[in-house]
Amino acid sequence: MTMNVPKDILEEYAELIEQIEHHAKMYYVLDRPEVSDAEYDRLFDRLLELEKQYPELETPASPSQRVGAGPLPEFSTVLHRIRMLSLQKVTTREEFADFDRRVREGLGTDDDIEYVIEPKLDGLAVELVYEAGVLMVGSTRGDGSRGESITPNLKTIRSIPLRLSEDTSMLYPLLEVRGEVIMRKSDFQKLNQRMEESGAQPFANPRNAAAGSLRQLNSYITAQRALVFYAYNVAATNLPELDDHYTTVQFLKSEGFLINEHVKLVRGIDEVEKEFARLEQARPDLDYEIDGMVVKVNSFREQERLGEIARAPRWAVAWKFPAEEVETIVEDIIFSVGRTGVVTPVAKLQPVRVAGVTVSNASLHNEDEIRELDIRVGDHVIIRRAGDVIPQVVSVIKEKRTGGEHTITMPQTCPSCGSQTVRPEGEAAWRCINVACPAQIVERIYHFASKDAMDIDGLGGRIAGQLFENNLVHDPADLYTITKEQLLPLDLMGDKRAGNLIDAIAESKKRQLPNILVALGIFGIGENAAQLISTRFETIDAIMAASVDDLITIDGIGPTMAQSVVDFFAKDQNRTMIDKMKKAGVAFPPYRVERKSSVFDDKTFVITGTLSKPRDHFKKLIENAGGKTAGSVSAKTDYVLAGEKAGSKLDKAKKLGIEIIDEDQFLKLLE
Ligand code: IVH
Repeated sequence: MTMNVPKDILEEYAELIEQIEHHAKMYYVLDRPEVSDAEYDRLFDRLLELEKQYPELETPASPSQRVGAGPLPEFSTVLHRIRMLSLQKVTTREEFADFDRRVREGLGTDDDIEYVIEPKLDGLAVELVYEAGVLMVGSTRGDGSRGESITPNLKTIRSIPLRLSEDTSMLYPLLEVRGEVIMRKSDFQKLNQRMEESGAQPFANPRNAAAGSLRQLNSYITAQRALVFYAYNVAATNLPELDDHYTTVQFLKSEGFLINEHVKLVRGIDEVEKEFARLEQARPDLDYEIDGMVVKVNSFREQERLGEIARAPRWAVAWKFPAEEVETIVEDIIFSVGRTGVVTPVAKLQPVRVAGVTVSNASLHNEDEIRELDIRVGDHVIIRRAGDVIPQVVSVIKEKRTGGEHTITMPQTCPSCGSQTVRPEGEAAWRCINVACPAQIVERIYHFASKDAMDIDGLGGRIAGQLFENNLVHDPADLYTITKEQLLPLDLMGDKRAGNLIDAIAESKKRQLPNILVALGIFGIGENAAQLISTRFETIDAIMAASVDDLITIDGIGPTMAQSVVDFFAKDQNRTMIDKMKKAGVAFPPYRVERKSSVFDDKTFVITGTLSKPRDHFKKLIENAGGKTAGSVSAKTDYVLAGEKAGSKLDKAKKLGIEIIDEDQFLKLLE
């Protein structure tokens, strides 16, 4: 309501917004500032002053949102209306040529394909939802279907428009723009310097810095970090007046989005290869990290005809740069015991920088790998970061051996508790099978506190070890009864740190069911499975009561995982732990994902015959409305969507008495 605001103020305010938006675009997007920083600040200060005086002026699209909005209790979950896909990867020109061949086969043509090439930015994928031209929701990619709402944080990024043009608002009342949030290398260095000066732990690389800055509950902090958003996609392809990807990115540019300067329209495989070489050469001089090139079929019609497979489009591919390899020396090989008792050999390396981080450890996985590499202490080795993340020993430079190297064998007793290790038949791993093994317990506590689990800030491996050694924590549930006084005698534990840890533990009582399931460390149950199980059963009690048969009805949960869940909750020790957690106040909130219910919810469709558009088009419509599709008709089928010339599936549906609908009926149902 702006009733109480004088007309001249309203006019001034509107004028200010226009000016600020214009200057911000010139500065942050086009890199062509027209006014001094001081002049820009003056406009901005005046805006803040007016909003303070007349709070009713402030809207979700006001530039004042750029300064952050204060702390949130937690991030809420956002369902992506259209799933955020990932990309197939290739690493050689032969593999790329295969991709190109599949595209041409899919389209039934021998002609050169028109592609758009883009750098593969190494940051965080996010989605921005504009309703009637105003940025309403911004979220992370998450698992592709569900992300976290980080709207106030994203609003602090100057290269994200808060408002689109009027024409666009009319033409696209709903527009979902996707892209990557990155931190420039130069800004990353400045940030790390600041962090080191203030005694904080610096970030490992620009990607982590971007992620850490973006996932702040307090968006004031995000506002202090120099983040950049590059737009690279619009969610749907059925956009009136936009027929291809290249035009779409140009359109986004005209709306004030930052488009990477290396985006280019090319034709045919030779031109793509040339661009790949060019980008690889440009890479070291870029002020942001890229790990390859994304190649996208330009035409939306062709994209739609190609469709998708296994959560990745058939019309795009990530052509990755070869992983950076460097040489170093193995100083030692040690054995670590994981939370499931697996004994893993780890090479201690002379520290080296590879692909942006300092590496001093590389897992050697198991006995077979040690033998295959023939790795010895003292060896010169080549290492790289697998998938540019996990350090890996690629090979041993045997020519550099001096004879002083020595071989190692897997330990016959557990390096932690000294009990016999075993290598079960058919497995590559040696295991310590003592459930009371200290190393396993410490790892379980550490895992319990990790980011995707209970996310207890400040509880790393060292603290977990001390908590156990000092008899404070024997299983993770004990964390909830420790006191600040008990923490104070630990190494490097000041008053402030102890207080923070106690707060973080208390805070973790609110975690959602999927995180708790991950935290329990049930064998084979990762984030994805935890999510699926929580969505189906909603409460911990229901999960504990579930049978293998119940569990395997979930799409994505196989018999091994189901058995593992049942075995876990069959153990007294684990049931007691859950009880202890409940008594200590861990909330176990029922997990109900909010979603508009629709007639399609959990309904299974089979699509058959010839329809006016490719089947994938209808498949997407069904999935976006909460339904599923299946390849064959069975008693579980709810609807058969039948087009022209439908054959045996239609007959079977008739026999089984399943509801058969045509395209018109389908579209009505969808409405
Ligand atoms: S397009 C359907 N374009 O790569 C297309 N992704 O593996 C999906 N990425 O999660 C994404 N640069 O984080 C696209 N120019 C670019 C990209 C890009 C980086 C990342 C993005 C995504 C991942 C897919």
